[in-house]
Amino acid sequence: MILSRKNSAISSSPTLAIDAKFKAMKEQGKDVISFGVGEPDFDTPQNVKQAGIDAINQGWTKYTPTRGFLKLQYVIAAQLMRDDRMVYDEGNIVVSNGTKHSLTNAFMAILNPGDEVIIPAPYWVSYPEIVKIADGTPVIVQTSEANDFKITAAEFENSITANTKAIIINSPCNPTGAVYTLEELESLANVAKKHKIFAISDEVYGQFIYNDVKHATIAKFIPYETIIVSGVSKSHAMTGWRIGYTASTAEIAQIIENIQSHTTSNASSISQAAAIEAFRRSSLGSVEQMRTEFNRRRLYLVDAINKISGISCKAPDGAFYLWVNVKGLLGNTYYGSTIANSYELCESLLENAGIALVPGECFGVPGYVRWSYAASMENIEKGVERLTTFVTHGEKTFVAHI
Ligand SMILES: Cc1ncc(COP(=O)(O)O)c(C=O)c1O
Repeated sequence: MILSRKNSAISSSPTLAIDAKFKAMKEQGKDVISFGVGEPDFDTPQNVKQAGIDAINQGWTKYTPTRGFLKLQYVIAAQLMRDDRMVYDEGNIVVSNGTKHSLTNAFMAILNPGDEVIIPAPYWVSYPEIVKIADGTPVIVQTSEANDFKITAAEFENSITANTKAIIINSPCNPTGAVYTLEELESLANVAKKHKIFAISDEVYGQFIYNDVKHATIAKFIPYETIIVSGVSKSHAMTGWRIGYTASTAEIAQIIENIQSHTTSNASSISQAAAIEAFRRSSLGSVEQMRTEFNRRRLYLVDAINKISGISCKAPDGAFYLWVNVKGLLGNTYYGSTIANSYELCESLLENAGIALVPGECFGVPGYVRWSYAASMENIEKGVERLTTFVTHGEKTFVAHI
């Protein structure tokens, strides 16, 4: 039997593969700590959970409108107004089953076979696969560490071909934590406008920004060419509830609604009720608590990592990841094996130091690892200790051995 040519080209999520290996080791009783996951280690805020429980008890257990409850669309629009001064109404918002689903809907709404989507690397692992699922062709564009791994207007323009349909802007970025400034977004928007290219603006980490840096969206400059995608998974520690949304023109929202009406219908009614509570002003305190704690870990970890010889990282302005340059360790021998690349380094770190990090290869840029600080401070401190021991004694352990 011949299976789908398109879908057999889709690879499984590499971050989940590392997590699976970590879980297997944990099950075997090994003392391992994961810094590989992309979800907050906090519980969903109590008022949000209660709203879900109330929804069940009050019978919010039926199909909802495909785009989601009107009330939910309103509170999402209110947040976009509060954070970005962007005017959207119920004609522009579609609620889906998580940001991943919203991204898939967005690409299905705009792509035709052969259309190219520019993806700045390092990129979140699912972007190329989602583009392929929607019949598009991912075009990976390398960025530079000197520009904090943010694509410049020149890099963007140089990558445009007659087939370019869209660019993905992910700010704050997974895996680098980089945040685009308003000026940077304006120059990217000018290129997009000139060449009639859509911007898919993934803002799922938008609530986790540190220092005095402000969240900005490219939609400010090209509202008609931008599809904002976001959700509550990260901001409200609601990864399991599966609520995401798109904010777009009414025309695109209608196409997304049509697609969704034949695939998943609506997002879970109970999760929608909880999300209404999450988007309310009254939940901002919980988000702020998480942000403050992430910031505390971020500052500690950046400092600690830069004290370890052979590795370095910049202090990112957003998300909850550090993008660590490990090129200084490559070519060295640790615990009997010479480490050729960041993938092998992560394997050795898991086996010999008991810490799970995600290799840069997964994000299209070898020579780096992603360290998620969505982990307790106690575990982060242990992780730093283990990495330090690995780097400083790993080689010696082997030498002493022979
Ligand atoms: C950049 C980025 N976009 C989207 C998602 C998916 O979020 P959701 O859980 O809402 O589908 C993730 C999750 O890791 C992410 O890192």
